[in-house]
Amino acid sequence: LGICYGLQVISRKYRGRIKPTDHREYGLARLKTKDNPLFKGIKGEQTVWMSHGDKLVSVPKNFSVVASTANSKYAAIFSPKNKIYGLQFHPEVVHTKSGKMILKNFISICGAKRNWTAEAYIERTVKEIKKEVGDKKVICGVSGGVDSTVAAVLIYKAIGRQLTSVFVNNGVLRLKEEKKVIKMFKELKMPVRYVDEETAFLKKLKGISDPEKKRKIIGNYFIEVFDKEVKKLGKHDFLAQGTIYPDMIESVSVKGPSVTIKSHHNVGGLPAKMKLKLVEPLKYLFKDEVRKIGRTMGLPEHVLMRQPFPGPGLAVRVLGEITKEKLDILRKADDIIIEEIKKAGLYHKIWQTFGVLLPVKTVGVMGDKRTYENALAIRAVHSKDAMTAEWVKLPYELLNTLSSRIINEVKGINRVVFDISNKPPGTIEWE
Ligand code: XMP
Repeated sequence: LGICYGLQVISRKYRGRIKPTDHREYGLARLKTKDNPLFKGIKGEQTVWMSHGDKLVSVPKNFSVVASTANSKYAAIFSPKNKIYGLQFHPEVVHTKSGKMILKNFISICGAKRNWTAEAYIERTVKEIKKEVGDKKVICGVSGGVDSTVAAVLIYKAIGRQLTSVFVNNGVLRLKEEKKVIKMFKELKMPVRYVDEETAFLKKLKGISDPEKKRKIIGNYFIEVFDKEVKKLGKHDFLAQGTIYPDMIESVSVKGPSVTIKSHHNVGGLPAKMKLKLVEPLKYLFKDEVRKIGRTMGLPEHVLMRQPFPGPGLAVRVLGEITKEKLDILRKADDIIIEEIKKAGLYHKIWQTFGVLLPVKTVGVMGDKRTYENALAIRAVHSKDAMTAEWVKLPYELLNTLSSRIINEVKGINRVVFDISNKPPGTIEWE
């Protein structure tokens, strides 16, 4: 089953023709299906998610068309002879309403079983970690986020005290985050080592405004810090990270030719000459699966349901050059956003809510004084796996509270705007 680019690769191999189009197709489309086992149980027109620029213009040899949309005549193709399906749309994203059904049908067509369970995954991974690590030591970078916490707990389950979890303050954390993370690890009854590198990170980031450079600097220095810690702590052979599948897809070409969208700090930022071997027990999982694994291991909901926070932290939310002053402004605004979203009962219903400090100053008036200060953008998105996202229609009343509280309480911000871009074509973070 080839999906999107997969359909195109298959078509090329079997002598179909693919052409760039004037009409890129991003977003929702209506799919008309023909009678085929892949669409068993699916009736009438279906909403599907499209995201492609090139399209198939002549069907490959021995293939027939089994579904189409207004824009893509060949939205699904099938060759009974080769036992190959191709789909131009994305069945794996939540916006494709019958996507799960299509994948389920495909599994039955293959004669396979749906037997992925969190319990089996944990059992297998614990065994694999034990085997891979043996009696060696592992150092794990934890951020307090869901992914690295679940990874650390899983590894701790496998090798106990052979694991050292290290939490690095990289200077681009949220308000009082270091205290919160240390408290959380205490609750989880897991030892954690706190390393304060705020000053060093900010020095390295001084004068840098290019997003990719920022990401690489943070990623590289992170590894240096780990190397330094290893020297202090004695020999460790492995570095564990909470890398998950979307981090890999968008950072590097895993097995295919995807372009680098952003260097995710725990993937693209790694220096080639890193001395530690990697342990990444979640690297083929999506966030919802990571949460399932965490829940099965008994992690509390407030840990599992934390909204995601990027590795390069506020560095990619202070647009342009980073200074401590700008970071402090953003921290205060971010804290208000999270507090109000929680108060409104929306925190767990939204994938991510945050502020972005814009490199733009605007004129305002406060009391009888002219102000000339920063603008802040509020971003709130719904997502299932970070691969696609939809902006959240936050209630006007809440937006009003956010705007007045931020402008009144955060010195340095005099204007608040709301981001209404979806992913694609936008990304969730601005940098
Ligand atoms: P984008 O901005 O690529 O973000 O649409 C997708 C999701 O990934 C998070 N993100 C990161 N997570 N390291 C991470 O661990 C990173 O470098 C990184 N960059 C973005 C982002 O917050 C969103 O949830």
